[in-house]
Amino acid sequence: MSENFKLDLARRPRRLRQMAAIRSLVQETWLRKEDLIAPLFVMDGEGAKETVGSMPGVYRLNIQDLVAECTALAELGVLAIALFPSIDPSLKDEQGTEADNPDTFALRAVKAIKKAIPELIVVTDVALDPYTSHGHDGVLDENGARVLNDETVERLCRMAVLQAEAGVDIVAPSDMMDGRVEAIREALDVSDHEDTAIMAYSAKFASAYYGPFREAVGSAQAAGTTQLDKKTYQLNPANRREAIADALLDDEEAADFLMVKPAGPYLDIIRELRNETALPVAAYQVSGEFAQIHAASQKGWLDYEKCRDESLMSIKRAGADLILTYFAKEIAASL
Ligand code: PBG
Repeated sequence: MSENFKLDLARRPRRLRQMAAIRSLVQETWLRKEDLIAPLFVMDGEGAKETVGSMPGVYRLNIQDLVAECTALAELGVLAIALFPSIDPSLKDEQGTEADNPDTFALRAVKAIKKAIPELIVVTDVALDPYTSHGHDGVLDENGARVLNDETVERLCRMAVLQAEAGVDIVAPSDMMDGRVEAIREALDVSDHEDTAIMAYSAKFASAYYGPFREAVGSAQAAGTTQLDKKTYQLNPANRREAIADALLDDEEAADFLMVKPAGPYLDIIRELRNETALPVAAYQVSGEFAQIHAASQKGWLDYEKCRDESLMSIKRAGADLILTYFAKEIAASL
């Protein structure tokens, strides 16, 4: 290059990237502990914690260990947990009858957490899949061919009321049935649970990234297949407009939060929904997103912490106000 070569540039964007301090000064997005919701798996009985294959560091916990984990999370500054039960296969049936049991261990787990750590926000899943022998999120017609919408919604209303009675702060219907948010809101209100909030899984896609989760709650094996087909209720990954339209119905039906799930492969949906609603938008970084970062870093192909942090920052930058992530505990510890 010649000695006096100089570009005639007024705009030099690199000025704001010269040193760590100036990069921080102009950083637009920050991840905070307060953004995180930790999903946790609970099992019945007194057994030792069980590992979940393909989810390193994630366990199915008995109620006592679950309460200890919640205490640790709260001490680290995590404000909320999302609870998922893993049901003994002997309790599962076609109808998911155990979901109607007012003393089912998932509800006992909620009561134990709220008793020990009342200030920790407890979010519970409203869906039948942990309880059904076929692993679907609803009840099937007599030929087992179709997931019945309205019959399922009636069951979800009962589940939500039982959860509210147990002390849950936020019920989270993850089933994708039509009209369930409005029906659940009404069921909660008529049973004097008008302060129980609804976090609707509003744009939930029929995703292959749920694989490790289905192992964790046993909803994949029950169906006898690793890829349970939920395409008749979960969204087509190809459809952006349909996803936004469906999610906005939950806003109209008085959901308190809208959720997009999975998160990383659906950043465009997160952004568009953030622009379209005034409600808080949550994003669920699902089991498969967690697993792929672990797997690649175990092979030495990706830097674990950097990819983990970048994945969460990207979800936040896309517009998520809250992130459900299996990384919650370690991120809270690192912030
Ligand atoms: C079902 C439910 C699923 C997840 C949360 N709730 C899986 C499914 O729809 O089959 C997935 C979460 C994850 O993969 O981390 N009610």
